[in-house]
Amino acid sequence: MDSERLRLVDFSTAHLDDFAAMNADSDVMEFFPAVLSREESAAMLHRLIEHRRRHGFSLFALHLKSDNRFVGFTGFLRADFVAHFTPAVEIGWRFAKFAWGQGLAPEAARACLSYGFDDLGLTEIVSFTAAINKRSMRVMEKIGMQHDPADDFDHPNLAAGDPLCRHVLYRLRRA
Ligand SMILES: CC(C)(COP(=O)(O)OP(=O)(O)OC[C@H]1O[C@@H](n2cnc3c(N)ncnc32)[C@H](O)[C@@H]1OP(=O)(O)O)[C@@H](O)C(=O)NCCC(=O)NCCS
Repeated sequence: MDSERLRLVDFSTAHLDDFAAMNADSDVMEFFPAVLSREESAAMLHRLIEHRRRHGFSLFALHLKSDNRFVGFTGFLRADFVAHFTPAVEIGWRFAKFAWGQGLAPEAARACLSYGFDDLGLTEIVSFTAAINKRSMRVMEKIGMQHDPADDFDHPNLAAGDPLCRHVLYRLRRA
């Protein structure tokens, strides 16, 4: 699948070096509990490949069309943790820092939303992030997702009082 500037491809183990480098960057991981070691990135890559095998969708690896450089990921995961809106299908994104600020996340997300609604037949797609992650919330707004503050929640995998615990939820229903 393609967007204007990106190729969206299935993750494979060949992505490990680029994926691990992105996940080891403390700026990229500012709104996550910790950066990932190479071993943790390898385990996550394995989970993403397994998620696609089990559910038929997963995160896509993104490459610039211009020079094939890996820039990050966007795509879908099942959200199965206990919350008022789960089970749900989540759209998520993460980009290497050199690629920030060029509108690549909303561009890739729009391609994924079309794929999710038209090809996967999803009826609703959600996105969530720590309430302090304004950049990610801005991407949600730019792609037309809706935010009802009554949907906001404390992430069950984070301790109460952790600054990352409070999460915003955005939703988009098939038109
Ligand atoms: C979030 C992320 C994917 C955005 O990707 P991107 O391709 O740089 O997105 P954009 O180019 O559209 O820029 C982000 C928008 O946020 C805005 N922004 C940046 N910093 C901001 C801040 N501190 N507060 C509010 N808005 C901010 C930018 O101005 C831009 O909006 P604009 O186009 O209206 O000016 C990228 O920053 C990233 O990978 N972050 C680390 C991983 C992450 O947090 N993932 C999400 C976890 S749920």
